[in-house]
Amino acid sequence: MALRPLVAGNWKMNGTRSALKELVAMGEGYDAALRAKVDLMICPPAPLLFTAAAAALGSRIAIGGQDCHTAASGAYTGEISAEMLADAGATAVILGHSERRQYFRETDALVAEKAAAAHRAGLVAIICVGETQAEREAGKTLAVVGRQVARSIPEGATPETVVVAYEPVWAIGTGLTPTTADVAEVHALIRRKLVSRHGKQAAGIRILYGGSVKPSNAKELMSVPNVDGALVGGASLKAADFLAIAAAY
Ligand code: G3H
Repeated sequence: MALRPLVAGNWKMNGTRSALKELVAMGEGYDAALRAKVDLMICPPAPLLFTAAAAALGSRIAIGGQDCHTAASGAYTGEISAEMLADAGATAVILGHSERRQYFRETDALVAEKAAAAHRAGLVAIICVGETQAEREAGKTLAVVGRQVARSIPEGATPETVVVAYEPVWAIGTGLTPTTADVAEVHALIRRKLVSRHGKQAAGIRILYGGSVKPSNAKELMSVPNVDGALVGGASLKAADFLAIAAAY
């Protein structure tokens, strides 16, 4: 089944208000032909969310957060709840990105809890999984990704509530990408795990590939079976690159 693809941009900790001109340009370039074939989303840093949602209004580019807390509110200085993201105009949130797992010691269990919080707030959870270089070299890719999928995605995941992003850690921001055969193998594993745990409807859950996606490799990566879109980092900061990736469909 070919799913409607999603190309999501993760701006990470990049961008001040001046960067929103790129979002406006993306909206202008997201014309009827592109809209007919691909969903677009930008996940800016939290301080830009509200303004970004306003800037994207009318363009049909969705806005997402990059993380959320598990609680709806409370004494958690510096944290942002899923409800607050939704209130600012987000419709989705990236969870369990490898940078969160690596630098903030997020576990599969915490990611699953955050995904449940996203669900509570009506946000789509974009749940990231992926192996490190050492894990790949040790032949553990399928075991690691399989474990992350099993433990980071909460019960009852549906195509409306969850998107999975496979991001090999060693491919993020390095210019390196796995072979299309490797991507196909991991995405097929993720699909099997989703369907065996969440039932037949999980065939409709989108599985994105992320890690050094750029205009020059997007077409090849997006043609791999079970790759239902991309999670783009660096190349999502510029409208021209992001739109070129979207146009690869
Ligand atoms: O969330 C996005 C990924 O970490 C990919 O980043 O496209 O800069 O490699 P990248």
